Amino acid sequence: MSEMEHYRLVLVFALTVSSFHGCQGQECTGQGGAFRPRIVGGDEAAPGSWPWIVSLSYGTRHYCGGSLINEHWVLTAAHCMDPPGEENLTTIYFGRHNISTLNNTVSRGIGSMWCHPEYNQTGEMENDICLLKLTEPVAFTEHIRPVCLAARGSTFPAGFPSWVAGWGALDEGGERNPEALQEVKLPIVGINECRCLNIYYVSETTICAGYPSGGRDSCQGDSGGPQVIRLGSFWVQLGIVSWGLGCARPNLPGVYTLVPEYETWITSVVDSSASPGFVLFDPPDEDNDLHYVCEDKHEYYNTYYTSGVDSGARLDSCQLLSLCAILLLRIMLAF
Ligand code: ARG
Repeated sequence: MSEMEHYRLVLVFALTVSSFHGCQGQECTGQGGAFRPRIVGGDEAAPGSWPWIVSLSYGTRHYCGGSLINEHWVLTAAHCMDPPGEENLTTIYFGRHNISTLNNTVSRGIGSMWCHPEYNQTGEMENDICLLKLTEPVAFTEHIRPVCLAARGSTFPAGFPSWVAGWGALDEGGERNPEALQEVKLPIVGINECRCLNIYYVSETTICAGYPSGGRDSCQGDSGGPQVIRLGSFWVQLGIVSWGLGCARPNLPGVYTLVPEYETWITSVVDSSASPGFVLFDPPDEDNDLHYVCEDKHEYYNTYYTSGVDSGARLDSCQLLSLCAILLLRIMLAF
């Protein structure tokens, strides 16, 4: 690209950033998000640094994350609301930091639940997104504030840093759970590379994040929580923690529901009187993922079957069951 073109793009990006201030009216202006750099391999967040994060709990027991998008609505993953009926048992906590103390938290119930009509629970986890309407609106404070959402058409070049926070497990086995909110910085992994690395189908309307060396990732209990990206001094939610094969394994990025793909659906559900703040995120950086060539698809799959079961690739009972089923089918077909 010519120098002129580059400057034009930078200018467009800068204008986007400045128009984003219009979103302050929504107060979806994330202050903080401490730039220090768990979750797996993360750090304890500074209290109040992710003021839109919410904890979905049974009683006080945390089970999923979510994000406040305006005074009436919380965004989360659809699989957090499985099976139906969860909504009646759930308490949403705002301003939570430590898991064992509820000091300064505000809680609400779920008034109504709107999950994506094409959420594919049994298949590929497509459209893993739900909106929860609160029983009563919440008042914004220093520690309770809504996040902006990435608008349709936003782009997230591979390698761009994103952040995820949550109260999920500190390791894949879930043996250790945090006392306080954890945060981790995770670079974006483009869809082409992510599809190449994952043995499971990665939907068009998701985005991935993680490190080739692993070690840092979201994990069980972080689901439904926001993946955000920094835009000037603000934060914009681009993803919802959805799934991953294990946690923090090398070359296995986590998969996040891509929020901008759902702008139309979100605005159609959320009443126009209190629409969330959508912001275009479209940096001038080139996205190397567009030229990504997958040379070794199912690499994980191959290592798995050739080198047997190692600590990084344990069989879970579900995989074992499907293997047995395939074997049985083979035997039956042979006769
Ligand atoms: N599905 C998990 C949950 O319910 C979140 C998984 C995220 N996994 C990952 N490796 N990034 O909490």
